Amino acid sequence: MTEKKLGPLNDEKIPPQHIAIIMDGNGRWAKSKHLPRTRGHQKGVKSLRKVVKHCAKLGVKTLTLFAFSSENLSRPNDEIGLLFKLFLSVLHSETKKLKENNISLKIIGDLSVFPVEIQLLASDAERMLSSNTGLTVIVAANYSGQWDIAEATKKIAIKSLSGEINPDNIGIDIFEAHTALAGQPKVDLLIRTSGEIRISNFILWNLAYSELYFCNTLWPDFNEHELDIAIESFHSRERRFGGRNKAT
Ligand code: IPE
Ligand code: IPE
Ligand code: MG
Repeated sequence: MTEKKLGPLNDEKIPPQHIAIIMDGNGRWAKSKHLPRTRGHQKGVKSLRKVVKHCAKLGVKTLTLFAFSSENLSRPNDEIGLLFKLFLSVLHSETKKLKENNISLKIIGDLSVFPVEIQLLASDAERMLSSNTGLTVIVAANYSGQWDIAEATKKIAIKSLSGEINPDNIGIDIFEAHTALAGQPKVDLLIRTSGEIRISNFILWNLAYSELYFCNTLWPDFNEHELDIAIESFHSRERRFGGRNKAT
């Protein structure tokens, strides 16, 4: 994708502070190779490892990954079961490596649909990694942007009723503080793989001023080089946030 270069470029030395990725295309990758979908999801985990490692190396502060949407619950039970199993085995195998690499983990979404074993392992992993100070990896599981906004609204309504929040003070900051990505840097760059050009109910609130990058690469083929290309595209853009380019 060629980018029109307008005015001064973003400082190329500073990587995007927060990258979010819609990891899509596992099924099509498997189909193109006459493999079961399972294999696409398994290969997708390899891309995930590469991207986490690369973001840590580049100095990205937060990486938010869309692993399973609320709408994905409408998929056949065998695929959902496989994804749950994969989630469990990744938590088992990766937590120690994340610890060693100073990476912390947060899982966002309605985890109540997951087997209790996954819920416990997820909160153990979050706790174990909570003192790490490097990259924060956020995994969105049974998550949707609309769910997040509704949850934040519910929390604020409860606090308003109890008197903890004065409704007159509810504004963008208070609202944001009740969303799943509260306290994280603003999402600088959203990447979606597999050629689909939509948000699919991912972080709606947080994409207000993110740069969007869509590529045709299927997630199992995504790697460090592909991430570098996405970041290069980010650096070639002029972010105006509604203001004006100094030169115009
Ligand atoms: C993304 O790959 C992974 C999940 C949604 C869990 P898909 O399974 O959506 O793969 P495609 O889009 O059908 O190729
Ligand atoms: C979005 O991909 C969700 C994840 C990548 C986890 P989908 O494959 O579910 O999205 P649609 O159906 O193409 O919108
Ligand atoms: Mg898909």
